Amino acid sequence: MAKPRVLVTRRWPEAVEAKMAEVFDLTINRDDRPLGPEDIRGAIGDYDAVLPTVTDRLPGMVFDTPKARTKILANYGVGFAHIDTDAAKSHGIAVTNTPDVLSECTADIAMTLMLMVARRAGEGERELRDGRWTGWRPTHLVGTKVSGATLGIIGFGRIGQAMAQRAHHGFGMKILVQNRSKVAPEILARYNAVQVETVEDLLPQCDFVSLHCPGGAANRHLINARRLDLMKPTAFLINTARGEVVAEHALAQALWFGTIGGAGLDVFEREPLIHPDLKDADNLVMLPHLGSATRETREAMGFRVFDNLMDFFEGRAPRDRVA
Ligand code: DGY
Repeated sequence: MAKPRVLVTRRWPEAVEAKMAEVFDLTINRDDRPLGPEDIRGAIGDYDAVLPTVTDRLPGMVFDTPKARTKILANYGVGFAHIDTDAAKSHGIAVTNTPDVLSECTADIAMTLMLMVARRAGEGERELRDGRWTGWRPTHLVGTKVSGATLGIIGFGRIGQAMAQRAHHGFGMKILVQNRSKVAPEILARYNAVQVETVEDLLPQCDFVSLHCPGGAANRHLINARRLDLMKPTAFLINTARGEVVAEHALAQALWFGTIGGAGLDVFEREPLIHPDLKDADNLVMLPHLGSATRETREAMGFRVFDNLMDFFEGRAPRDRVA
């Protein structure tokens, strides 16, 4: 039987590319530049499987091709809001993602941002590199204590729970949770966490708020000007979920006017473009979408895609099917 034709839309870790090439008739986008919707539409006509990432956009129009060949979109990443899964489904195309394997590293980056912004690490590093440091003094770059503070987690799936694990067991933080569905009492008990009904209930009680909900239309601007106003003026917002979850203009205003204490962002609404008003905010730490960026995790994500494809083409149900 002919090998399935598979398109990888970005460069992947070498070990995974090599494994894929052994089994599939593999095309890799060697330029490593994001493909446009027209390229993806073309690929859906030409390949049995397309393997997109968060940098690809797959709206309904990409499936409108008279000669669709693709049977599976095996996404490299856990978030799949960039894929119109209803449209894929209506064209008989399966969609899979890569959960679990990136939870720890993404929670590590959320902790990194939380510690950096609370302890003013970005400001300190900029000062030092600019040659502006004049030496130790009791009032220099005084930050906020993280240990023992209250952390609100919005979205209590795998990554939210990995964050609670670190924050509660590592830093003695009190955990409040807001989640669409009710979280099982035994899961909350692991972190001595308390679930509240609404985002409005959560925000005023927290010293730190970390976002771990999915992106997409349902959560677009979940954190807006009104909700930022509900946060304590000393509190910090951390976003490692998706850029669209936070209204960036409203956040920039809150940072500038001191409505909140600061923020840490790993994701942005129009990546890789950064809202100009965010760039000069000193009480903001920004990272370039590094959540899952460790060798171990990026390889594990690739092998998870590989497993999903093997299951699919050998007639088994892929374990990470989302549509
Ligand atoms: C994810 O897995 O969703 C990461 O953000 C990369 O897409």
